[in-house]
Amino acid sequence: MSITASEGGSAPEAEDSAERRPTVGAALSESDAEVAALLLRAAKNIGLEVPRAPSPERSRLDDWLIYLGLASIWFGNHLTGNLGRTDVASVTPWLAPIVWEGTFDATLIDSIYKQQNITIATTVFALGKYTRFLKDFLESAEEHYFIGFRVHYYLFTDQPEAIPNVKLGQERYLTVKKIPSLNRWQDISMGRMDILEKLIENELAKEKVDYIFCLDVDTKFYGRWGVESLGHLVGVIHPWFFDVPRFIFTYEHRPESQAYIPAGVGDYYYTAAAFGGSLKDVHHLTKTCREQLNIDAANSIEAVWHEESHLNKYFLYNKPSKLLSPEYLWRDISMSVGQVKIIRFSHVAKNNAEVRPNL
Ligand code: UDP
Ligand code: GAL
Ligand code: MN
Repeated sequence: MSITASEGGSAPEAEDSAERRPTVGAALSESDAEVAALLLRAAKNIGLEVPRAPSPERSRLDDWLIYLGLASIWFGNHLTGNLGRTDVASVTPWLAPIVWEGTFDATLIDSIYKQQNITIATTVFALGKYTRFLKDFLESAEEHYFIGFRVHYYLFTDQPEAIPNVKLGQERYLTVKKIPSLNRWQDISMGRMDILEKLIENELAKEKVDYIFCLDVDTKFYGRWGVESLGHLVGVIHPWFFDVPRFIFTYEHRPESQAYIPAGVGDYYYTAAAFGGSLKDVHHLTKTCREQLNIDAANSIEAVWHEESHLNKYFLYNKPSKLLSPEYLWRDISMSVGQVKIIRFSHVAKNNAEVRPNL
């Protein structure tokens, strides 16, 4: 491909100056057109449809460079199955994947897990006024969450009578567990670790459950959350901290707490509103966090972000095998940022002062 430099020296005549800017306006040479035709024929032969090329007569060199560049990326990705993102990291320094839209092939990954006949337990707590979130949570989960796979919801509440009647799909089950109400929201939130540890130990371990996810109820699904999220130990990057430096992370920095993380240490800041993994790994996680929470309570200290602080400490020393991007727990559906191409699951707006039993 030849690029003719614009000629210096004598001033160009006014009427032909447009033709004298060949750097941006050169017509395609014969050999370029041959290359393009060859590419198109190759595509046809293997049954691929490619974006329509600009007409060779009217095209400009830069159009063709862009076209050929895009076509080769497109060919490359389709022939090799390559996927990837360049605007976000999709792997941790310990080589765990970070799942973002554009890093996985949903059809392919579904077909792999379909052969395994898996069950995903999903826990959710709705105490006090939080039962109001259940309808949207369950209805949206039935639309987007592990569709086509066996899901068993375990719903903990102090008011079983307030549970909405949501129609569940095939191979979708719901077990309601009544638990006592508590009058501090922090205790409800932290108390989940102990209840989850016992649920896994006493019930799930005996059943055929492969994976477990533990989710906040003041949330709603808006897009696919599927088997791409499965792993031994899965953490979700907190939606407020995915693109900020570590010193902004709200880890517990008081050495008196078991959740203590020294300044300058840490990988990511994870949310406690969603985490999961294999039964064994999540059992170890919940047991460890419960023990650390108990030690803190005995020492009259409560970590800055409650069980989330302990979860972050846990993930620092027990690295998750897979991380989910904030697509898997966004701030609020009405907020957007460039890196988040799809909101799969999001906190819903809530008035804390109105729904919580205390401030
Ligand atoms: N929760 C509850 N009732 C309460 C307070 C909390 O059921 O009165 C449960 C509920 O599952 C909720 C989770 O604890 O999603 C965490 O609390 P919250 O969502 O208020 O914390 P945030 O996400 O706002 O930090
Ligand atoms: C808030 C969130 C809290 C906690 C905190 C951490 O946005 O509501 O639950 O995660 O961030 O700084
Ligand atoms: Mn929440």
